[in-house]
Amino acid sequence: MELHTLQYETSDRVAIITINRPDKLNALNAQTKQELEQVLGSITQDPQVDVVIITGAGQKAFVAGTDIAELAELTPETGEAFSTRGQSLFDRIESSEKPVIAAVNGYALGGGCELALACHIRIASATARFGQPEVSLGVIPGYGGTQRLPRLIGRGPALEMILGGAPIEADEAFRLGLVNRVVPAEKLLESALNLARRISSQAQPAVHLAVRAVNVAEETPLSEGLGKEAALFGECCGTEDYAEGVRAFLEKRRPTFTGR
Ligand code: COA
Repeated sequence: MELHTLQYETSDRVAIITINRPDKLNALNAQTKQELEQVLGSITQDPQVDVVIITGAGQKAFVAGTDIAELAELTPETGEAFSTRGQSLFDRIESSEKPVIAAVNGYALGGGCELALACHIRIASATARFGQPEVSLGVIPGYGGTQRLPRLIGRGPALEMILGGAPIEADEAFRLGLVNRVVPAEKLLESALNLARRISSQAQPAVHLAVRAVNVAEETPLSEGLGKEAALFGECCGTEDYAEGVRAFLEKRRPTFTGR
């Protein structure tokens, strides 16, 4: 796969995608989004990958937003299509049953903040900055920010970020629940990799079904969500890793999971 705006490597069942346009602070242009789609498609099919980490190249930015040069020519019709296409790319990340961790190494603005929001878990370096500055350009967040941000941090704080447009620092993002934790910049990748390896050591069918169950929680009334949870719990009980996991516990040994 030939990639020009992303780097992609896999080791020890963890894939690392690095958005790689550091001279433009890793802003997402059409090519980056297309390559991201391509890489995510291949990860879904790759039995050697359990967990994905997304980060940005360089010290300064995770992703400083959608490429503003490409925003400049939109009409009401092409604008809606532009938003829908970005949303479906980020939906693909959120609905991936292989967990996706955002390792946010700097500016996560506009589409960059929305990319982090679509990931399942966010870890920030102390130098990260989060913001939804779109209103200063005359638009609103269009890649899911108006929907995911209030669900994650609540309506008031989300509206303050979306209407005020000012970026917040990593510690404030942690206080608001936007990120799971903040680590020193030099420990960011190590921290994300440690978590990814821990997830990778678990029973993968259960990991996939847990992601599916938690994703349902966002969109369903409790009674319906509980029904779905019971069905997915039942599905776990049909897996070989379930049989191995409980047997290993009872036999006081470490389980050997096969991912089946
Ligand atoms: N789209 C396109 N190019 C971008 C970009 C974006 N979202 N964000 C940064 N860049 C480019 C700059 O145009 C500049 O390119 P140049 O060197 O060819 O002129 C380069 O990245 C470096 O950015 P610069 O603005 O010089 O860095 P800075 O340290 O002075 O400021 C930011 C950093 C993040 C505060 C500033 O770049 C910024 O405000 N970016 C836009 C953020 C935004 O509004 N995102 C939401 C878009 S919907």
